[in-house]
Amino acid sequence: MADRYLNFTGTPPGRFLTRRLGLPQPAPLRRWSPERPSLEGQLLHVTAGESAHREALASVLAGTGLDVVQAAERPAGVVVDATAVAGLDTLAEVHAALHPVVRSVEASGRVVVLGALPSADDHHQAAAQQGLEGFVRSLGKEIGRGRTVNLVRIAAGAPATAAESTLRFLLSPKSAYVSGQVIEVGGTGGELTVPESWERPLAGRTALITGAARGIGEAVAETLVRDGAQVVLLDVPSAEADLAKVAERLGGRALPLDITAADTGERIAEFVDALDVLVHNAGITRDRRLANMPAERWSSVLDVNLASVLRTTDTLLKAGAVRRGGAIVATASIAGIAGNAGQTNYAASKAGIVGLVRSLAPRAAAEHGVTVNAVAPGFIETKMTAAVPLFIREAGRRMNSLAQGGLPVDVAETTSWLASPGSGAVSGQVVRVCGQSLLGA
Ligand SMILES: NC(=O)c1ccc[n+]([C@@H]2O[C@H](COP(=O)([O-])OP(=O)(O)OC[C@H]3O[C@@H](n4cnc5c(N)ncnc54)[C@H](O)[C@@H]3O)[C@@H](O)[C@H]2O)c1
Repeated sequence: MADRYLNFTGTPPGRFLTRRLGLPQPAPLRRWSPERPSLEGQLLHVTAGESAHREALASVLAGTGLDVVQAAERPAGVVVDATAVAGLDTLAEVHAALHPVVRSVEASGRVVVLGALPSADDHHQAAAQQGLEGFVRSLGKEIGRGRTVNLVRIAAGAPATAAESTLRFLLSPKSAYVSGQVIEVGGTGGELTVPESWERPLAGRTALITGAARGIGEAVAETLVRDGAQVVLLDVPSAEADLAKVAERLGGRALPLDITAADTGERIAEFVDALDVLVHNAGITRDRRLANMPAERWSSVLDVNLASVLRTTDTLLKAGAVRRGGAIVATASIAGIAGNAGQTNYAASKAGIVGLVRSLAPRAAAEHGVTVNAVAPGFIETKMTAAVPLFIREAGRRMNSLAQGGLPVDVAETTSWLASPGSGAVSGQVVRVCGQSLLGA
């Protein structure tokens, strides 16, 4: 469904009127396209304090294809290395570095702050590092013009290269709808490998996507194929015709299957032999307030969104069907983080995904060499959200820092970054793809 308000604010009278009325000013977002796959221009690299990562980071940033500089008039991106921030004096250097340039960052530009994990033994370092989170989340809310602001924390002892895939993603048009996020790298991650090609990191890899007949799942499949993967597309047997069409279009294989079947894991293992990427995307809603919610509505949502994910993951990991260096990406939702009236069942299932990811990640890394992460979409323009009544839909669209809904491809790009062999150091993360939604912020 077209976002007419976004189109209107793009016209001179629309801009004039909405500004005068103090209404949201969504900017058209720059997304990935084959013609313009990267940001263009200068990437400003600044450092607060004495960072141990300075040189290694400079070479990681050089890999983005941007022109890395120490001073810039109109940067397309700014990276502030604040890993050495250990107190309020070095925290002030972050302010000093960004204050003069923030206004001149290009539209759809990127600000990435690199931090360290807040220390358990040094409360001054912890205060300053936690301070970065408030800083980043606030700047994300005020920066406007389609620009995003994110914080990447590098675990103690991890090299700057642990952040490479994440920086490449955040400093590209692929992360257009990801803002206000805090992402930790180098902690519970698996093996850190560099893909042969950053353009096609999934070449030679097999990915299975559940709920792939339409919506976000279809977009995920398409993006993983773009990035080199061979795909197996799973959806309910009643969606077989649509599934076959998507499979044909993408050169993938269709697996019509209801994931609530007890033997789903075994059936998948039989069909594919081994997988590199497992994307748990299938999900349903059956909204009702708790007082009006019969047990069937509760159990059907919990069964599809969480029980099946737990069961299938367990079976496939136990069978060794997810190869070392592989990735599991599950789909949560901002409703699972913020809660939503009428969605006790759905939010419980999606919060359950967050619990699953955080708990399983260290063990999956140690025992299987597999990463486990979640994407948590916000308001995404799909058939599901087009069916939402107009007023609620408009509110959902605008109540985020980018003042618009995301597209299925935004979730797909995030999934592909997490699925990449270059993201072996990223695990146990829940990344919201929500334009920095005010819900669950
Ligand atoms: N659209 C949004 O704004 C939004 C926001 C937050 C989270 N999400 C989550 O993203 C995921 C995809 O959402 P979408 O908007 O594309 O939904 P959608 O309804 O368009 O697609 C979901 C797909 O999952 C399939 N599916 C449902 N039950 C299944 C089962 N038992 N076995 C196999 N396949 C099954 C459906 O047939 C469908 O093709 C879901 O997990 C959803 O909860 C979506």
